[in-house]
Amino acid sequence: MTRGGRRVRYPPDPVMETTIPRVPGVPLLGNALDLARDPIGAMTRAYQAHGPVFEIAIPGRRITILAGQDANLLFNTLGSDTLQLQPIYGKLVEETRSARYLPTLDEPDYGYYRRMIKPRMSRESLGAHLPEAVGVIRDAARGWRAGEQVPVLDLMTRLCVEIIGRATQGTPVGAELDDIVLFTKRLIGSGVAFQPAFLLRLPDYLRARRRFEAFLQRIVDEHRARPGDDLVDLLLQAKTPEGEPLEGHDLLAYVHLPLVNGVAYAPRLCGYLLYELLRAPELLRRVRDEADALFAEPELTLAGLRRMRWLYGACMETLRMYPIAGALPRYVAKDFAFGGHTIRAGQMVFIATGVAHFLPALYPEPRRFDPERFFEPRNEHRQPGAFAPYGLGPRTCLSAGMGEALIMLVTATLLHHVELALPRPDYELRSEIDPIPGPHKRFRVRVLGPRAAPS
Ligand code: HEM
Repeated sequence: MTRGGRRVRYPPDPVMETTIPRVPGVPLLGNALDLARDPIGAMTRAYQAHGPVFEIAIPGRRITILAGQDANLLFNTLGSDTLQLQPIYGKLVEETRSARYLPTLDEPDYGYYRRMIKPRMSRESLGAHLPEAVGVIRDAARGWRAGEQVPVLDLMTRLCVEIIGRATQGTPVGAELDDIVLFTKRLIGSGVAFQPAFLLRLPDYLRARRRFEAFLQRIVDEHRARPGDDLVDLLLQAKTPEGEPLEGHDLLAYVHLPLVNGVAYAPRLCGYLLYELLRAPELLRRVRDEADALFAEPELTLAGLRRMRWLYGACMETLRMYPIAGALPRYVAKDFAFGGHTIRAGQMVFIATGVAHFLPALYPEPRRFDPERFFEPRNEHRQPGAFAPYGLGPRTCLSAGMGEALIMLVTATLLHHVELALPRPDYELRSEIDPIPGPHKRFRVRVLGPRAAPS
């Protein structure tokens, strides 16, 4: 295969015995400080210094990282016989009390459940609820007064999870949100992101888990009493590969999927996108014009949303510049060769999918926010292995279409209805890992006033 005039060895080299380079760090902490400040930035620098395979250290552990365009291409092709999740996601099984919880499964069960639930977590599931979703966003904005400062991550989390709950389960989330957020952060923090396990034994978490499970059970009971046609109805009809109904904690672990994943990604991207738009007046004007045109149409549709060229480019550019899950963990079940090294079975590695997003060979001036990268004829993201905000390979995000439409809908509706501004014109957004990377919780936007009469 040839890329940019460079011949790329793919499939990769045969198995070789070599020493994987270590990224220099400081005593005891290793590379932890750099990683905490800007994980993908640190891994991009390490890739540029050491090549596509390197080892980083955090207290108590050394971890092998595979990064760059070739790592993404490889990740796209390696199957569940080589890269697995079940051996490293034991905590998730414990906390959901389900050995059938999707993120912890490998083939053949993984593909079975994924195919089963995907249709009810799609873009079209959101498309069937567009007016209701717009109502949720408008109602939130209606209460704002001019001069008020709105905390962005809280707002976006409330909007995204509320809309996802209604679109996939026909259920308002309302005051249950705080428990869902606390549960999600601890589950990801201690289950995936190396936070201490004792956090999963603290009373606040145990209380949130208990209440969240009770909420999930109420959702199930209401669907049993009044059947419909959403994800929960599908789960109630579903059978396990052994032909048994899905029940108990296995059932609840599937009902929880849209809510927990709804907390993790889309709200953070909505926050970053709003920041990038509010700091670029010309881009903001273009997106706002598109939003006004969208709401002037007789009916709000997914096709209409997708026609918003500048908003689409800005949304994709946000996915590129802010990879929320830019390094994905996998357990190596079988030796394989990559980048001149043997990646040995029996260890956890991270595939730093987000590093490719910052390589100048793929994206000129990679630190510049430039929505036109995604327009014809540039299409920089279409280069193989260049764009991976949803992961790669057989277990990419199940709801990428819904996520993208949701981010565009929330942004278009807010910009159509309200005039917002950054706290100061020169405001610089800081990110925070809590334990999911996202806009800092202190990021607020100023409400200047309403724009359009509610339609
Ligand atoms: C637009 C924002 C989103 C982004 C960037 C995103 C990204 C991702 C990523 C990186 C993964 C992990 C893939 C892996 O481990 O290889 C993932 C998995 C998943 N996402 Fe998304 N996601 C988004 C929105 C959503 C939404 C809104 C939902 C649900 C309504 C959702 C549901 C899921 C599920 C169920 C999985 C687990 C699939 C599995 O375990 O294989 N995602 N997503």
